[in-house]
Amino acid sequence: MSSPVAAVRSALRKYLMVPKLIRLSRSAPKDRPLAWDRYWAGIAATGPRGEVLWDSGNDHELLGYLDALQRHLDPGLPVVDIGCGHGSFTRGLAAFFPQAIGVDVSDHAVARARRESAGMENVSYVVRDMTAPGAGHGLAGPTDANVFIRGVLHVLEPADQAALVGNLRDLVGTRGTVFLAETNFQGDPVDYVTHLGATIRDIPAPLERAIRELPMPGHFGPSECGRVMPPEAWELLEDGPVTIETNRMTDVAGESLIPGYFAVLRARH
Ligand SMILES: C[S@@+](CC[C@H](N)C(=O)[O-])C[C@H]1O[C@@H](n2cnc3c(N)ncnc32)[C@H](O)[C@@H]1O
Repeated sequence: MSSPVAAVRSALRKYLMVPKLIRLSRSAPKDRPLAWDRYWAGIAATGPRGEVLWDSGNDHELLGYLDALQRHLDPGLPVVDIGCGHGSFTRGLAAFFPQAIGVDVSDHAVARARRESAGMENVSYVVRDMTAPGAGHGLAGPTDANVFIRGVLHVLEPADQAALVGNLRDLVGTRGTVFLAETNFQGDPVDYVTHLGATIRDIPAPLERAIRELPMPGHFGPSECGRVMPPEAWELLEDGPVTIETNRMTDVAGESLIPGYFAVLRARH
């Protein structure tokens, strides 16, 4: 149990942080696709110590998913990386599937992903809002495809989560499988930004940029998954806790690691 002094400090920290967060986040466009595209337009550097909050700059997290991917996903099918951002996971997945296709709502994200993937023959990118009606059609050509999705559902409103998941059904067909990994941090926005190293005096630059420019994220765990991918429509093959590895912004290693949730699902027909 925390001491009364620690409890008062924590309450005071929240009291001081809330107005700061409100002030910073006021400038984020309410139009989400626009917010994402402006965010990506302003990014000059990705990778280790780059500007992207959720980019650890290495493949450690992806390699941690490999056993589950190999247990459940057909390695003969292409993989579609939904909400691929600058394509770091798309490129990593290309080593394990015949074709990796990244799709993102942001033109600027896809332009950057293409630049960073130059010369990779089995990697391609598409700009598409995956919540739009019919957005799953034709993404991988005529074949069923596997789906990889990391850090996207937790940034969408519930109605958009449902629309996106509906589109995944077209994409996976009868042979494809969905692997998702999402942030599942339990706590309010102040707890979240504090966990990532924000203090009253200082907010690490990649975090401050995300607060200023993007919609405040939620969390996505077993109950959100069960709601948006109910058992009558999706067979849950495996799930559990994971660690989402973000940009190391402070000297405290744990501050770049976010509790997360992964699930592997197949559509019922
Ligand atoms: C937190 S980032 C994760 C990027 C990437 N998956 C990764 O883990 O590095 C969320 C990404 O989802 C994209 N996104 C948000 N809404 C989307 C939508 N409706 N359709 C497609 N992509 C979307 C954003 O542009 C952004 O690149």
